[in-house]
Amino acid sequence: MLDVAFAKPTLPKAGALALLIGEGEQASGLWAEADAATGGAVGRALAAARFTGKKGQTATILAPGAGLSRVIAVGIGKRADAKALAYEEAGGQAEAAASGDAVLAIVPGGGAADAAHAALGAVLRGYRFDRYRTKEKAQDKPKLAKVVVNHDEQAAARAAWSDLAAVAEGVFITRDLVSEPANVLNPAEFAKRCEGFEKYGLSVEVLGPKEMKKLGFGALLGVAQGSANEPRFVILEWKGRKGRGKSKPVAFVGKGVTFDTGGISIKPAGGMEEMKWDMGGAGTVAGLMVALAGRKAKVDAVGILGLVENMPSGTAQRPGDVVTSYSGQTIEVLNTDAEGRLVLADALWYCQEKFAPRFMVDLATLTGAIIVALGHEHAGLFSNNDELSQQLTAAGIETGEKVWRMPLGDAYDKMLKSDIADMKNIGGRPGGSITAAQFIQRFVNDTPWAHLDIAGTAWTHKDGAIIPKGASAFGVRLLDRLVANHFEE
Ligand code: BES
Ligand code: MN
Ligand code: ZN
Repeated sequence: MLDVAFAKPTLPKAGALALLIGEGEQASGLWAEADAATGGAVGRALAAARFTGKKGQTATILAPGAGLSRVIAVGIGKRADAKALAYEEAGGQAEAAASGDAVLAIVPGGGAADAAHAALGAVLRGYRFDRYRTKEKAQDKPKLAKVVVNHDEQAAARAAWSDLAAVAEGVFITRDLVSEPANVLNPAEFAKRCEGFEKYGLSVEVLGPKEMKKLGFGALLGVAQGSANEPRFVILEWKGRKGRGKSKPVAFVGKGVTFDTGGISIKPAGGMEEMKWDMGGAGTVAGLMVALAGRKAKVDAVGILGLVENMPSGTAQRPGDVVTSYSGQTIEVLNTDAEGRLVLADALWYCQEKFAPRFMVDLATLTGAIIVALGHEHAGLFSNNDELSQQLTAAGIETGEKVWRMPLGDAYDKMLKSDIADMKNIGGRPGGSITAAQFIQRFVNDTPWAHLDIAGTAWTHKDGAIIPKGASAFGVRLLDRLVANHFEE
């Protein structure tokens, strides 16, 4: 993670300088100082680049003089409209433009909290998964190691940063987990990494196949039975309400299919490697719990991870098999590739039975159909609760991790009718994401519940302002914000 420092505004004598500029703003402060120190080079370059401060616009001036290697101007749009996310995105763009320098000074303007968000953006954009690069030359590696955010209220900015740093840590944990190849990150390894989260103050419990069999997790175990890698079930707990009286916990449940071949209903070869990301929901729950613990959120929270590998083999479940879920309901498995909902069925039932939570949010890379419906811009939101839906939608707009509510209803539920069991695990092609959600809802009673289908948002194929190409950790910042907005104290 980039080193972050806050300092009183002073023109650096070397390295990169990023100015976050609002639309229509005139040079003042460090911007004016940099312009004067470079004999007007900054102003001339910005005029030549037709830089207006429009949101997202950037201009880089190389070697402008005064010892600086570059001055980066990043537009944040109208200053009065710029919220935390605008500062994050601008910080991220500055980081990307400065990766050839060792130190980047950012001049964000705005309030102290905005300055901290600019730092967060730079840190998030600076993420790299480097573990398996052994031959990259030093000159090809990004050099940037430190960001110095210049702000008059440096102490307040630093205080705001301490919570955001915990969120960044959670995001990085998720991105690391999701980026790992499936030969390394199998269910046992995933659970082992979760045990390491005790250092953040989480309590961690891991169930193996024996315990799950005893409990009767027939749906989850049916998916796992084709793999040589044993399943795991992880329960993470954060108790942040100590001494604040009793209150039900909030709960997050993640689909953790460490690799999804489709099982006997096997997937086509092209693009199958992307299915190492099919544990993205569980990866997000893990990172979220670390973020909540790291910033000592005043909430009791539970994170539940259903970890399995979906493989075809002589022991794999067959299309047509009937399994008995932990809830007692039977499921005819007509397509072994609709496995995520089987894992969630047992995980959600366990969650509500064991913890009686205030709400449950599950996250799952559940259906290709949600990508057809929403592309990569929004995650699908399905819920039995309008208030929770509104809270999630608002937190999505704040964090840029946007969700779009999709319908549920009896007519969709009927599509799951089986000829021989309580339900089948597929509803046919039309409304594929909805019938998947409908299936999951059969394992939720009256608990307020939301399901986020993150198949289109858990990873990205191109760089974004604060998300480098690859695992996005979608949901960590969203759900951290949900908790911060409504469920602390
Ligand atoms: N993990 C996949 C969904 C997925 C597809 C995630 C593409 C990310 C990108 C899930 O387990 C799956 O295979 N779903 C099937 C369901 C179908 C068999 C009813 C699908 O979407 O095709
Ligand atoms: Mn599948
Ligand atoms: Zn899957």
